[in-house]
Amino acid sequence: MTNPILIIGGGLAGLFCALKLAPKAVTVIAAAPIGQGASSAWAQAGIAAAVGEGDTIGKHVADTIIAGDGIVDEAVARLMAAEASDRVHDLLEFGVPFDRDLEGRLQVSREAAHSESRIVRVRGDMAGRAIMQALVDAVRKTPSIRVLEGHVAEQLIVENGRVTGVRARNHAAGGDAMIAIRGSGVVIAAGGIGHLYEVTTNPAEARGGGIGMAARAGARMADMEFVQFHPTAIDVGKDPAPLATEALRGHGATLVNTAGERFMVPLHPDAELAPRDVVARGIFAEVQVGRGAFLDCTEAVGTAFPDEFPTVYGYCRDAGIDPVSEPIPVIPAAHYFMGGIWTDQHGRTSLPGLWACGEVTSTGAHGANRLASNSLLEAVVFSARVAEALRDDAADAPVGWQEGSIGSADLEAPDDSAQMKRLRGTMSANLGVLRNAGGMREALRTILELEEGAETERFRNVLVTAKLIAVSALNREESRGGHFRTDFPEPDDAWKRRTLVTLDQAEAV
Ligand code: SIN
Repeated sequence: MTNPILIIGGGLAGLFCALKLAPKAVTVIAAAPIGQGASSAWAQAGIAAAVGEGDTIGKHVADTIIAGDGIVDEAVARLMAAEASDRVHDLLEFGVPFDRDLEGRLQVSREAAHSESRIVRVRGDMAGRAIMQALVDAVRKTPSIRVLEGHVAEQLIVENGRVTGVRARNHAAGGDAMIAIRGSGVVIAAGGIGHLYEVTTNPAEARGGGIGMAARAGARMADMEFVQFHPTAIDVGKDPAPLATEALRGHGATLVNTAGERFMVPLHPDAELAPRDVVARGIFAEVQVGRGAFLDCTEAVGTAFPDEFPTVYGYCRDAGIDPVSEPIPVIPAAHYFMGGIWTDQHGRTSLPGLWACGEVTSTGAHGANRLASNSLLEAVVFSARVAEALRDDAADAPVGWQEGSIGSADLEAPDDSAQMKRLRGTMSANLGVLRNAGGMREALRTILELEEGAETERFRNVLVTAKLIAVSALNREESRGGHFRTDFPEPDDAWKRRTLVTLDQAEAV
């Protein structure tokens, strides 16, 4: 009997990888019920794929490279765009009801920075939810996939230089017991980092734990300074902040301040459709000086709002806003992480026995700024590639102890919510939309203080991720994509490259 492959994460990348590995035995370890607690389910727009008339893989690659601001790995972007159509067809086979036109062809819509209409959608703005529902149903029906929900992976087990298992805390049991599980391969698909920030569109589970866990085991990280802030989270004081999809601006919605001025017009020739980082800074500036920022959809969408954008409509109505007749207050929010665990084109990390896919990785596909709707695409393309690689590479993994409880209630996790609040405060103030050396050093000091008092492995993982972001951002003395420094506001060609770092290297700085 061989050990199963362990997949940490119950979002799109984790579940797609598990399904692609069937009938190989897989155990999915997820903090929340699968499909919940994952950013994928909240994605509104859809999946970018060059399947529309007149579109080509080459155009998709070119748009991805331009958005990535000089540091996209072209080979990676090309294979991602080339495999998009096959992966969309896989999703159709899993039962995802993508929108079709009257002739039955996939319907595609347009988003900022895409030169063609290429976003494959579900009922307007419901792609993420529909995709995750289909995959959760498929996983539950697949006998080779075992699901451990309510388990937070805290530590990778490394034996003789190879990752051979995971220690996880079983919150589901109610007793906070620790278990150790061995796998013939371990895949981290644990999502992003949005909850390191006070304002985010991501669920609470997206706090960088998977990245920190891999870094602590010695894995190489890449591009840790690049955080993407979505310009238009709905500003109604909710945590997480609900998203007003970029497709609204694609439909012609405008951004105005309290004086009714379209403040993006003087800032960029593409105004509201400028790159995400430019729009985020424009909105941030209005909010900072007290003029406020609002997304006005009343003319561009108007009475079609409930049908065309049912998810956003629901969010607005819940907050007492009628987007048909009044502008929506918006604020930039941590949305996506371009950095993460470095992988090759098959999702292999720098540690034998460890693979990774989805937002937790940095494949090089997004460079300094991800193109809209390339995130779900990257998740499915690379999780399929990980599954392919694991068919060969996992075969010679050692077989040994299976699974066991290694602790009990006395390991109960202390509540780290006050420390988490402090961390989120300093990340937002000092490593957010605008950064400078003084602020980033201040954030680093706070992170180091929090590390001294950290009582749980889970929080230590989170802090390591925050520390790597701070060190990498301090190190890059220029502005590019999602990384904007007021003390180095221009791009510098000397920095036109990706950055690689291990925890040891970061701590030696
Ligand atoms: C959006 O719908 O605006 C978000 C899409 C994305 O982040 O790719």
